[in-house]
Amino acid sequence: MISSSKTVCLLPGDGIGPEVVAAAKAVMVTVGDLFGLALRFEEHAFGGDAIDRFGTPLPPETLEACKRADGALMGAIGGPKWDHLSGDSRPEAGLLGLRKELGVFANLRPVAVPESLAHLSVLPPDKVAGTDVLVVRELIGGIYFGKPRVLAADYAIDTMTYTVQEIERITRVACTWAMRRNGKVTSIDKANVLAVSRLWRETASRIAKDEFPQVVVEHMYVDNAAMQLVLNPRQFDVILTGNLFGDILSDLASTLAGSLGLLPSACLGGITPLFEPVHGSAPDIAGQNKANPVAAILSVAMMFHEWAMPEIANLIEESVSNVLLQGNVTADLVLEGQPFIRTSDFTLLVVNEMTSKYNRVAIDV
Ligand code: IPM
Ligand code: MN
Repeated sequence: MISSSKTVCLLPGDGIGPEVVAAAKAVMVTVGDLFGLALRFEEHAFGGDAIDRFGTPLPPETLEACKRADGALMGAIGGPKWDHLSGDSRPEAGLLGLRKELGVFANLRPVAVPESLAHLSVLPPDKVAGTDVLVVRELIGGIYFGKPRVLAADYAIDTMTYTVQEIERITRVACTWAMRRNGKVTSIDKANVLAVSRLWRETASRIAKDEFPQVVVEHMYVDNAAMQLVLNPRQFDVILTGNLFGDILSDLASTLAGSLGLLPSACLGGITPLFEPVHGSAPDIAGQNKANPVAAILSVAMMFHEWAMPEIANLIEESVSNVLLQGNVTADLVLEGQPFIRTSDFTLLVVNEMTSKYNRVAIDV
């Protein structure tokens, strides 16, 4: 029995966001029941939904609620409905603003392909089985936030910038994780072209050498890294990279597992930890009970890890694996025309698996 209470701020957002957040909430409610944990939920407008209802993608109430909470869970944001909007008024600006305001500079995106689930991969199972990569993406700097940013009629400017201090702190996160894992960090940059990348490389090397002598750090250009992730993904342990490269490489890495719908993430290091499935809002399947809830459910597991409740996190992770192992997959993981499990049914399978697994363990004890 865990006697503690937690407040979770739910940000369903757009597209399939509300469906996957509902699935994640069902899992959290189950956790509350099984472990006697008092979980309090708040739901707030975010992204395009908040633009429609309040005229801004990140209403002040939403931000304040996230700051007060013990954790925030986002569903997804964006969609064609808001594509005509520019820059600061887009749904995406709400997410970038939330990350920045919370100060969550470290985005952890794990991609694990256990042997038993390698058949779900887009790539040949024997190439990907055993892959276990943690992408550590810098989240509140780089070209996503650099100034000046200009969109004129005949030219445009985005600015990639990183300070030494920003590179140092994200390097420390990557190296700390490497020490808990297999001791290797691959820092990914474009140091053959970009000045920012040369500073990145130098700083990452220095921090690793001075503070983490047990960690092996290697450097790789981002173009090669994209290829290596496909050719030989098992060579990677922790990937350390900036905001833009991390965004791109994590989508690529999702093909190793089989679908973007499987990848969770945690945004850490700030006022409140924020958890986000890596996938987008998938407007084409929104509202059809077809979305894969695994990314959102595993993001909840990351929340419990962050709260130092590993037994709960492990129960969620093992239950999801078991449901997948039993051959239950959502539409994103089957060929067109093949049978698949709907979002709410998949979630129910996970909830049932959690309950029966918890009871089995309780009886064994
Ligand atoms: C992600 C998304 C976001 C990003 C968008 C929606 C702003 O693609 O979390 O990977 O680029 O960070
Ligand atoms: Mn992305």
